[in-house]
Amino acid sequence: MKKAKVILDRDFVISEISENVFSSFVEPLGRCIYGGLYEPGHPTADEDGFRQDVLEKTRALHLTMNRFPGGNFTSTYRWEDGIGPKALRPRRAEVAWQCIEPNQFGLDEFAKWSKKNGSDVMMTVNLATRGVLEAMDCVEYCNLPGGTYWSDKRIENGFREPLGYKYWCLSNEIDGVWQVGQKPAREYALLAREASKAMKLIDADIKTVLAGSSSPGQSTFPAFDLEALDIAFEQIDYLSVHHYIGNSENDSPTFLARPLITDKFLEDTAAVIRAIRAKHRSAHEVYISFDEFNTWHSVAEEARFREKWRTAPALLEDVYTAEDALALGGMLLSVLRHADVVKIACVSELCNCISHLRTRDGGGCWVLPPYYAFKHYCDYGRGTALQTKVISDSYSCARFPEVACLDAQVVCGRDASVTLFAINRSLDDTLALDAVLHGFADLRVEKHIVLTADDPKATNTEFDPDHVVPRENGNAVMEDGKLHAELEKMSWNVIRLVK
Ligand code: AHR
Repeated sequence: MKKAKVILDRDFVISEISENVFSSFVEPLGRCIYGGLYEPGHPTADEDGFRQDVLEKTRALHLTMNRFPGGNFTSTYRWEDGIGPKALRPRRAEVAWQCIEPNQFGLDEFAKWSKKNGSDVMMTVNLATRGVLEAMDCVEYCNLPGGTYWSDKRIENGFREPLGYKYWCLSNEIDGVWQVGQKPAREYALLAREASKAMKLIDADIKTVLAGSSSPGQSTFPAFDLEALDIAFEQIDYLSVHHYIGNSENDSPTFLARPLITDKFLEDTAAVIRAIRAKHRSAHEVYISFDEFNTWHSVAEEARFREKWRTAPALLEDVYTAEDALALGGMLLSVLRHADVVKIACVSELCNCISHLRTRDGGGCWVLPPYYAFKHYCDYGRGTALQTKVISDSYSCARFPEVACLDAQVVCGRDASVTLFAINRSLDDTLALDAVLHGFADLRVEKHIVLTADDPKATNTEFDPDHVVPRENGNAVMEDGKLHAELEKMSWNVIRLVK
């Protein structure tokens, strides 16, 4: 058996956790929307064509926002294609994913869907192949009360009240060679700065997000971010970065340790922001918008270009397994651990593509194991992040010489509960965990949720949807003010302590 210790103190606070880190991402990619969120004619579809079986599972997450419409999709998108009468909307060649976009679900439909889902929208404007004016028009359509061309169009299209969207991404992954309209940092930042300035002249209450590095693996990280921020710092409010982790070597111990790269990436990005703030001697605050992250296994290029010009093909539908739940869990703990600098976080994506929520066209809807880790994070991650000191036995693997078996993060809830999220990364050993909780009195274990499987590759299917599900029979106990638990090998744990 391996051993680990957690030490915390009620007064050692990292930060309040922003509500916006409980967000996701919706892109008209593959079957995320068509056959996912939207399928007129499906037995559960409502009058708007929204699948109620999907809505039931997305509502259960209590998401704050969904980023829309992308993603690479945004780079050749005309937002006007997704408003007004559906019969008049153009079918377009969508080049990022080599599909036909029928534009039957656009800005108007996403506004309605989000209302039904109870979540807000973070918009992305296209600065890759369009300009400042189109971005301003979009803000005008969404946020002005009426009396102008675009705001009156919105009213004509059935939205009397402004949509009031506050968060706006200034394009997406503009550093990437795969991006139509890729730009060097300077060229992009000059455009983004002016777009942000103009968009804020339309609506002074919006916050804008500068596109930074699309991965820590980009050779231009952090130079791109430094240069772009240096130019646009005072006009923008967030810096967007993305991270996907995979297991192409089929080496699970390495895969489970990859969230360590996320930790470093977020810390390096925060250092970039601090450096530019210091250089400018600025009082302006810029935070990280970690608006795409997940595990991702499908070879994107292969899937993207296999067969062109279909509508809503099954692209990037990874079969996520129990080990993905732990790897994603590690990324989620990284977000909480960096609550002082990460103020927006959107897991990729909400349905079917790179997603833990899966549907069959005309058929069922089921969830894959990582859905549960994300749901626990959304259910119990709200509140204040505490510094969580971990002393743990370790293992070594191909990519990392020393990996702590335990990954842990503690959150104090607004209801005075204390939640310890704990991952036992060891594939072979149980982990004996002892936690010392300074400054807390009279806590008892309310529940200890465990998500694990005998086989790291175990998953759920439409016809066996409960193969990997969490159970509430973990063995955590409080004894003499100390917490003790034996964490099963390869397990995700949520230990809830209450008075
Ligand atoms: O989520 C899929 C794609 O991954 C997004 O469109 C893009 O931003 C990223 O490369």
